[in-house]
Amino acid sequence: MDELSLIKQAARALMSGIPRALRDPHRPAWHLAPSVGLLNDPNGFIQHDGVYHLFYQWNPLGCDHRNKCWGHWQSTDLLHWQHQPVALAPGACYDSHGCYSGSAVVADGKLTLVYTGNVKYPDGSRTAYQCLAQDSGQGEFAKLGPVLPLPAGYSGHVRDPKVWRHQDSWYMVLGARDLQDRGKVLLLSSADLRSWRLLGEIAGSGLNGIGEFGYMWECPDLFALDGAQVLICCPQGLAKQAERYLNVYQAGYLIGELDYHRAAFSHGAFRELDAGFEFYAPQTALAEDGRRLLFGWLGVPEQDEDAHPTRQYGWLHCMTCPRELSLRDGELCQLPARELRRLRGAATRWRGRADDAPACVLDSAELQLTPQGAFSAAFGEAMTLHWDGELLRLTRRNLRSGQPEHRYWRGEVTHLQLLFDRSSVEIFINRGAAVMSARYFPGPEPLLRMSGDGALALEHWPLTPCML
Ligand code: FRU
Repeated sequence: MDELSLIKQAARALMSGIPRALRDPHRPAWHLAPSVGLLNDPNGFIQHDGVYHLFYQWNPLGCDHRNKCWGHWQSTDLLHWQHQPVALAPGACYDSHGCYSGSAVVADGKLTLVYTGNVKYPDGSRTAYQCLAQDSGQGEFAKLGPVLPLPAGYSGHVRDPKVWRHQDSWYMVLGARDLQDRGKVLLLSSADLRSWRLLGEIAGSGLNGIGEFGYMWECPDLFALDGAQVLICCPQGLAKQAERYLNVYQAGYLIGELDYHRAAFSHGAFRELDAGFEFYAPQTALAEDGRRLLFGWLGVPEQDEDAHPTRQYGWLHCMTCPRELSLRDGELCQLPARELRRLRGAATRWRGRADDAPACVLDSAELQLTPQGAFSAAFGEAMTLHWDGELLRLTRRNLRSGQPEHRYWRGEVTHLQLLFDRSSVEIFINRGAAVMSARYFPGPEPLLRMSGDGALALEHWPLTPCML
């Protein structure tokens, strides 16, 4: 399909699909979700002239991974987002099978998108071009074409450019799968965004003492934070362990030091960014006030997508809440963006034995919990959280099989901040030391019920809906 027909069909799908999506009781009240079709990665996250732009991988025509366009939202407060016209749609010879993930920078005063043009051939093989598009002034983006074909030595899986400016150059990290099926992150530089030079592999399977670590690394993001450099990456192909790497694919980070001249990144161990069921392909932006903000996809590729009940309402997946990043004790700390406090309604506070805690409604709510011993929390019928003094365990029924499935975080829990939004929960552990994110699909008016002998303190706020 050519670009124009796709955009026309998307407009038709939106007009007929929005009323149906809005009837869905699981539709988020304050998270970003597509009006119709499938959303995956956050793309092009940037703040420019006081305005936040968040683009996203979007199939407007169905709840499957085809027709990948860039959807576009804009906001001045990180809370209220306006839908913008489709920014990119596939159809050119260099992006015929999808305008895949990428990033945004401001060049010559203009918002400029750097994305992967994905091209598939009838024999099943593929190639990828890194491409540019620029704001043409009317909220539309004009494609400027490919600026980088596949580098030699890599498979057709080279994608997801994240570009930033350092001193007098542009730099790019790219996710790649080499010809020996090892996942890599490539570093490139350019004077003008148009001609790029490959500087080397800065991280990946078999590099920097990390051992065999996946066949493909997607969605890299490299940035300075509190005196160090953080490389976010999504390795595919890690073996499951008892309490880690339990999702189909992982999103995590490496902390280290980047030597731009030697194109070398010395780093510590890989850590998962989120210990929950759904979290992938995060992307960060530097806010104008100096904060490093992150959005993630509250989903994972190939993970139970066909069983999500929201498909009946014509839409699938949503973003995480915006998070603020910092380094604490050598690890990444993630907290809900402070703007989210403005959604809080009247607070209810309670203290006592967990068994005696009053039930509270979770529909769209924030809960802060300070436990003094083991406890269990049931979120409606759909999900439970249990802490036994050593292990925090999140349990839900698998959407397909109905069997219980678990995710874990091991350690002393001193504080939990839980953000609920109809069909999602994000659990911030010990003021940002770890996070567990998950979708869940409760019945109407799900209640939180606590149990356990230990004492605890609870604070509960309803959160005001702010998204359509
Ligand atoms: C990650 C990803 C990216 C790719 C995009 C396509 O979820 O596979 O690597 O660019 O999704 O939608």
